[in-house]
Amino acid sequence: MKIIKSDLQAMAVSPKQYPYDELPEIAFAGRSNVGKSSFINSMLNRNNLARTSGKPGKTRTINFYIINDEFRFVDLPGYGYAQVSKAEKDKWGKIIEEYLITRKNLKEIVLIVDIRHEPTSQDLIMYQWIRSYGFTGYVIATKVDKISKANWQKNIKIIRNKLDIKDTNLIIPYSASKKINVEYVWDGFTSILGI
Ligand code: GTP
Ligand code: MG
Repeated sequence: MKIIKSDLQAMAVSPKQYPYDELPEIAFAGRSNVGKSSFINSMLNRNNLARTSGKPGKTRTINFYIINDEFRFVDLPGYGYAQVSKAEKDKWGKIIEEYLITRKNLKEIVLIVDIRHEPTSQDLIMYQWIRSYGFTGYVIATKVDKISKANWQKNIKIIRNKLDIKDTNLIIPYSASKKINVEYVWDGFTSILGI
């Protein structure tokens, strides 16, 4: 995939702030600190377009990145971050849900998980929700650079069992830091986006 340009187009907490056009979007959901923003940067070959942090809870708004003036990546706030109040969690939950339910541009929601850890019950709820809305249910198992390649399949199996995934090909090992599987994921995305 040739990225000619990529820009932050909008940061939103409610639908009236979403970009108003017909461009297709792929959104990324997952636990806080799992590497959603880093995934976006690595796919776009940008170091700091999506702001990342070693501390969870960095992305708190829905961030729309426009790419080649043709389609968008949508970075969602991470869930499951223990260090915030119930009120704050409820607010983020509502922001995410409103986007997922109302957004016509949305072509696919991709779940991002950390290959090192078994998905949580919140991941399972999110994944079941994705499937129930008719999306394919791709899972990016990121940070593979943190474990030896000999363990990838074992960990993918744990993810597969927890999320009850029939087709193991839906789980894609990935590394943002080592740029593992960038082109492979682009192949899938271009077909989702019809570009
Ligand atoms: P929130 O915005 O809080 O929801 O987090 P996020 O999911 O956007 O995570 P972010 O991309 O900010 O990354 C969190 C931390 O994980 C950062 O310190 C990243 O450098 C690190 N990280 C992300 N992806 C990878 C990866 O593929 N490999 C390694 N080794 N570290 C990664
Ligand atoms: Mg983030």
